[in-house]
This record gives sequence, structure tokens and C-alpha cells, in this order.
Amino acid sequence: MIIGVPKEIKNNENRVALTPAGAIELTKRGHEVYVQATAGLGSGFPDADYEAAGAHILPTIEAVYAKAEMIVKVKEPIEPEYELIREGQLLFTYFHFASYEPLTNAMIKSKAVCLAYETVEMPDRSLPLLIPMSEVAGRMSIQEGAKFLEKPMGGRGVLLGGVPGVEPGRVLILGGGVVGTQAAKMAAGLGAQVTIMDISLNRLRHLSDIMPANVNTVYSNEFNIRRHMKEADLIVGAVLIPGAKAPHLITRDMLKEMKPGTVLVDVAVDQGGCIETCTPTTHEAPTFIIDDVVHYCVANMPGAVPYTSTIALTNATLPYAIQLADKGWKQACADNEPLKLGLNVVDGKVVYKGVADAFGLDYTPVDAML
Ligand SMILES: NC(=O)c1ccc[n+]([C@@H]2O[C@H](COP(=O)([O-])OP(=O)(O)OC[C@H]3O[C@@H](n4cnc5c(N)ncnc54)[C@H](O)[C@@H]3O)[C@@H](O)[C@H]2O)c1
Repeated sequence: MIIGVPKEIKNNENRVALTPAGAIELTKRGHEVYVQATAGLGSGFPDADYEAAGAHILPTIEAVYAKAEMIVKVKEPIEPEYELIREGQLLFTYFHFASYEPLTNAMIKSKAVCLAYETVEMPDRSLPLLIPMSEVAGRMSIQEGAKFLEKPMGGRGVLLGGVPGVEPGRVLILGGGVVGTQAAKMAAGLGAQVTIMDISLNRLRHLSDIMPANVNTVYSNEFNIRRHMKEADLIVGAVLIPGAKAPHLITRDMLKEMKPGTVLVDVAVDQGGCIETCTPTTHEAPTFIIDDVVHYCVANMPGAVPYTSTIALTNATLPYAIQLADKGWKQACADNEPLKLGLNVVDGKVVYKGVADAFGLDYTPVDAML
């Protein structure tokens, strides 16, 4: 198969959908890989590394789209790319269709095959192509929180790990899923006193078993949150209710009860946030202060560490990309149920119910397209 890797053109997106390591795996199976010039540079992969891996470099995005049978990307196509997409072309990338109707309509019109990373789903309902980015964001939340706890950054001036003779900082983590678990590991590793809250007792049992002694598990309810937030130096919001907006576990009135200089990192901001006063921020201006409390609410945290994020993402996507290249999308999806669930729009038809429902469009069961 001919595989194309365009350079991401969305603002501040430095990730790339295929590394030179991935190019080796595809070319040694007899596939042809075409990478747009400088596509990997933002993640630390120069063109020469792709050429050494057997890929070809093309000068423009137009040339990549014109050549490829399968396009692998990171972000959803944006307006200038719509007209480059051809009927029957396979697109494997994050789409997040339900959040943007013009994209959905454009892909229906293109008659391309749109396989979305975010809806590839395992039998246990986990989302293998979203997990790596949650892992990155979870670990980063503590790194960012520690930085903004420094006095010149607006924080309390607390070193999370303390020093001999000085007690460590306190970290409260709301939500013990992928983000919360990775945050807890990082905070615990720095030596902080960590409390992690969840409403799933099974989740808390698991965390209690695997976490070190400086991590406590506490059931999540308003009483417990109010009690613990007063002592916290850093609070991480990592809650998710699938298919719904995040609940506001920290409301505006609670800020007054926190210590001045407390840092809030609301990782769940991309789902509306679990802290009422959080609104999305960017890496250029990541924080704002309300009632002496520092708010960090960057909606695309992994974007700040493109080297790590690209490798983490492609570790997860490449096995699927190889199946798609080896078998073609129809056979690969027929053989692999989780991958089949990634199909959202095929040949002008919406085959993912959530997307059809979001915009009142006709829904075609995916099996009818295979
Ligand atoms: N900002 C970013 O760059 C970025 C990156 C990756 C993920 N995220 C977001 O981070 C959030 C968490 O993702 P995840 O992968 O960890 O999800 P997850 O499903 O693995 O974990 C969510 C956890 O929240 C718990 N929960 C639900 N309601 C709760 C409540 N009232 N109190 C405490 N816990 C509660 C659930 O039981 C679950 O354990 C999501 O909104 C995700 O979109 C953001």
C-alpha cells in the first residue's frame, strides 16, 4: 500500500503520525511510505532519518495527499486539507467528529474512509489510542504543577518533595483513571504526600494495592474534597464520565477555603473541566489566577512534549496501521473488532452512531460497508 504522512498544519501541533521506526516496519513489509518534508522535525525526526528508513520525502502536502492510498495523521484534517482528500482514500487519525459538524460534512462529501483513533475500542471499553495521551498528560500534570508552585510562577513557593527537616507538599488528585494514576506515580516519586480520590471502590482498591506508602486513597464526595483541598498545595482534576461533561467537583466558592498560591491543574478541561473556574488555556499562556489560586488548564498538554508524545502515540497506532496496510481497511476491520469500531464515516455514510446522533444524520451500520 502507498502510505502518506503529511506535516500537521494545525496551530502549534508538532507531533507526527509516523516515526522513522514505523517507516522501517512498513517498508520492510513491501509498503511505500511518502513523508512530507519536515513533517517529523517538530518531534525531533529530520527528513534524512525517514529516508534512511526507506521512506520517500515529498515537498508539499498536496503531493502527499495525491500519492497516498492511506493517510496517517495526528489531528483531524482542517479546512485547507478538505479538498485534498479523495474518494476511497483511507484516513487514519484523531477526528473527534462529534465536536465539529463542518468536518463531519466535509468528510461525508469527500467519500473517503475515516477511521478515528479515538473510537478504536477494546472489549473492556478501554480506548487504546487515547490512553497514551492520558499517560503523557497525567505525568505532565505534576511536572507543570511543581513548576507553578514556585513563587515566581505565582504559586505558594513549595517544593513538592520537601527536604530533610521540612515536610513535603500535599497533592490531591481527583479521579484515579489513567491520568490520575500516572499523576499519583509522579507525585509519589517526587516524595509528595498524595491523596487520590475516585467514586469507583474497585479502582481505589487497585490503587491502594499498587501505590507506594505516600499515596492514600479516599472516596470522592463533596465532604472529603472540601476537607482535603484545604491542605493541598497542588490539586489535579482527572475525572471522566464517558460521553458526558465532567462534573464540577471544585466550585468557585471553594477557592476561598484553599491556601493562597495553591495550584489547580485541570487535565479534564478538554471535557469541560472538573473545576468550575477552569477555562481552556494554551501553552503560550497556560495559567491564570482567581482568588489567589493558580489555574493551569491547557487543553492539549501532550503538545508541549512532542518527542515523547509522538513515540507514545505511534507505539499504539503503528500495529493498527500495519494491519490496514497489509490487508486493506475492509479485511483489517472485518478481522479486528476494536479497529472496526474506529470507522466513523465511509463512502459518504456515517457509520458511527454517536456521530450520526450528534448532528441528526442518517446512520448506516458499519457491517453494511464491509
Ligand atoms: N488536557 C489534556 O491535554 C488531556 C490529555 C489527555 C486526557 N485528558 C482528559 O483527562 C480526563 C481523564 O482521562 P482518563 O484517561 O484518566 O480517564 P479514565 O476514564 O481513565 O479515568 C477517569 C476516572 O474518573 C473517575 N471519576 C468519575 N467521576 C468521579 C468523581 N465524581 N470523583 C472522582 N473520580 C471520578 C472514574 O471512576 C475514572 O476512574 C479526560 O477528561 C480526558 O479527556 C486531557
